Amino acid sequence: MKIAFYSTKSYDKDYFNRFNTKHTISFYETQLSENTVNLINGEECVCVFVNDLLNATTLEALAKKGVKIVALRCAGFNNVDLAKAKQLGIKVVRVPAYSPYSVAEHAVALLQTLNRKIHKAYNRVREGNFNLEHLEGFDLFGKTVGIIGLGHIGKVLVNIMKGYGCKILIYDIVKDPTIEEVEYVSLMQLFNNSDIISLHCPLNAETHYIINQKSIEQMKKGVVLINTGRGGLIDTKAVIEGLKFGKIGGLALDVYEQEGNFFFTDHSNEIIKDEVLLRLMTFPNVIITSHQGFFTVEA
Ligand code: NAI
Repeated sequence: MKIAFYSTKSYDKDYFNRFNTKHTISFYETQLSENTVNLINGEECVCVFVNDLLNATTLEALAKKGVKIVALRCAGFNNVDLAKAKQLGIKVVRVPAYSPYSVAEHAVALLQTLNRKIHKAYNRVREGNFNLEHLEGFDLFGKTVGIIGLGHIGKVLVNIMKGYGCKILIYDIVKDPTIEEVEYVSLMQLFNNSDIISLHCPLNAETHYIINQKSIEQMKKGVVLINTGRGGLIDTKAVIEGLKFGKIGGLALDVYEQEGNFFFTDHSNEIIKDEVLLRLMTFPNVIITSHQGFFTVEA
């Protein structure tokens, strides 16, 4: 099959060239949009990533070019208008579980970096500053962790957090009876009782801004929020208010609603104009990574 591969990075090319024996792949660095559909030259499949936007216009342009398959090299599929794809007869495939460990472990890495202030300690020690002022963290042992979405990644996180001796609360629309030593609760109960909240549900109409001003009001003071799911799960402006007033004690993000404008590329020589992102970057208790949860050798 001929495949047009969008948003290509060196690591994509390395891996796909290493394992591909059957397909003819054209690699493009650019994102897929209605303006870049023209690169397609006889390919019946496009392979895309998290920030390639497959809205109705782009899908129509793909259909006109004869594309029959959209292959997402990610688990989330919120960037595809599925109803339109179906209407146009375009099949959409994704990676249902390439390494749930990669993302769950990254969520814990973020949590512990934020909690134990490793990012600050690292810089201090390198400058010969061995002072501990303001580096105090808390034990995870005995804390309550609220996990929203108990799928592949959420389940791995449950096991990790059990190892730390945490109590686990789950909110999911589907109950999995095989999972032990967790308590299924309502969203409100999860918000009321969790010291740490981690998001692992898909982004869709129901979960869009699941973290918003009202839900933040229901949370414990000092709650730590971890989002490795999708940026749109969080109303970032509401979270900024929560941080300003100390309701939210820490925020770790691997995803951001407007990440498509920045993530995966170097903007260090530009003036970043996204005021929300810039505001987030000023908080001492906010850590941001640029959607790297998936990025392990095994994944
Ligand atoms: P999954 O499909 O295995 O699990 C999702 C879970 O969320 C399911 O148990 C489902 O019942 C639940 N869910 C669906 N709607 C819900 C709702 N309204 N409220 C609460 N729970 C709901 O997905 P998986 O593999 O665990 O991935 C979860 C998400 O993580 C993906 O959708 C993707 O957005 C994100 N992700 C992020 C990565 C990163 O690099 N940061 C990499 C891979 C995935």
